[in-house]
Amino acid sequence: MSGPIYTNSQGAPIPEPFATQRVGQHGPLLLQDFNLLDSIAHFDRERIPERVVHAHGSGAFGYFEVTDDITDICSSKFLNTIGKKTRTFTRFSTVGGEKGSADTARDPRGFATKFYTEEGNLDWVYNNTPVFFIRNPSKFPHFIHTQKRNPHTNLKDANMAWDYWTANPECNHQLVHLFSDRGTPFSLRHMNGYSGHTYKWSNAKGEWHYVQVHLVTDQGSKTLSAEEATKLAGENPDYCQQDLFENIAKGNFPSWTVYIQTMTEAQAAQQKFSVFDLTKVWPHGDFPLRRFGKLVLNENPRNYFAEVEQSAFSPSHTVPGQEPSADPVLQSRLFSYPDTHRHRLGTNYALIPVNAPINKPFHPHIRDGAMSVDGNLGSHPNYLAYDHPVTFRAEVLLQENQEVWSGPALPYHWTVTDDYDYVQAGNLWKVLARYDNQQANLIKNLAGSISSCRKPIRERAFALWGKVDKEIESRLKKAVADILGDDNKL
Ligand code: HEM
Repeated sequence: MSGPIYTNSQGAPIPEPFATQRVGQHGPLLLQDFNLLDSIAHFDRERIPERVVHAHGSGAFGYFEVTDDITDICSSKFLNTIGKKTRTFTRFSTVGGEKGSADTARDPRGFATKFYTEEGNLDWVYNNTPVFFIRNPSKFPHFIHTQKRNPHTNLKDANMAWDYWTANPECNHQLVHLFSDRGTPFSLRHMNGYSGHTYKWSNAKGEWHYVQVHLVTDQGSKTLSAEEATKLAGENPDYCQQDLFENIAKGNFPSWTVYIQTMTEAQAAQQKFSVFDLTKVWPHGDFPLRRFGKLVLNENPRNYFAEVEQSAFSPSHTVPGQEPSADPVLQSRLFSYPDTHRHRLGTNYALIPVNAPINKPFHPHIRDGAMSVDGNLGSHPNYLAYDHPVTFRAEVLLQENQEVWSGPALPYHWTVTDDYDYVQAGNLWKVLARYDNQQANLIKNLAGSISSCRKPIRERAFALWGKVDKEIESRLKKAVADILGDDNKL
């Protein structure tokens, strides 16, 4: 016999794991059978809440390497030397589906990376699209509910989705991404990542810029057609998980080249759009990409639940030199993620190894709570005690002499009254013309979805697309009519 001694959860050896203690051979069970109770009671509690969005995901460890100097833009220590490497953990996800849903569903993809830096954890909680559906955070729960299941039928419901999208036209730019083949990436390795939001990065002198981050896939950007994605969803719903795991296992490590776009406060004031509007991109011609690093994924997780399921990312997990901007969606996310982690994983979620910073955090007042498993700072006072000196890093004073905000408190519904909301979506439609079949596939994918809506919602959808580009509207009307035939009147 070899291998570990089989025990119960308390370490007591169990000679016969499948035996149950009973009265006689076939009589009732005995309550004293701790081996049985221990294993069934733990089994009963195996599931934790799945993420309310981005429930379905795949992850891998890796590293970030600085390739070019950007110390004029950012003072974060992990960026201070060319060639410096920082360990990372990345989780990719789909947004709307449940934990077991298919990898190739039409959906944006999450692209979240945790950097275990010498100054604490930095999380980039990004998507594979450079824009998003909303700029007013109060819409998020409404919007997400329209992407999930109808509370009555328990079915995904195109009527709910298009009812929402047509009433909230700031979505249209993201919809071009979603319904083009970009909405079904070929694999997790073949897609880009984008901060989407504007962030604020500062250098050691306190000079700051607005920044957007781009992770551009070194594998080349590749997509699936709707037919390919549907076929894979039936034949191998875990296709992307398998592709990522197997490529890393055989040493074919995926990587991304990382760039920033930067903008000064004065430049931001001159743009047609607000830099705090998550539905807009910064034109590359005016704000070119500047390379500074590489992200490489080279290590599969040893245990999916421990590392991927229990990973907890938040845009509020940041390090000196990188701060959120005033984008209201980003500001809301700063609250939402740690809030949901406390619900999903518990108040001590930062002690779970995949979430634990490597630089020995010290905060004597953050103590106790469920699952306090790191020794809880032993006999140290549980407050900042006068006779236990600590060091405060003086140079980490940010936000001074930066943006100044003032004004009355007011309820503000951020709408854009000119037609600029439609311009960038129209530009993307024109960009699709450069690629084989991409405009045609967008029309086909939109028509497939819109044709299952009721007629009034279909009419609103045509009107929405007419504002983006008249050609989309006319081609879409024809494609929907072709699908519905006589049913087009309903
Ligand atoms: C996951 C909230 C917008 C990217 C989540 C989760 C919540 C959430 C509650 C689940 C987190 C967990 O259980 O660990 C929100 C709210 C938003 C918002 C309230 C807007 C008001 C966005 C945007 C992006 C984004 C704009 C991208 C730019 C992600 C990603 C994940 C995620 C990548 C998955 C993280 C992981 O892999 O664990 N979001 N979200 N979210 N969100 Fe958001």
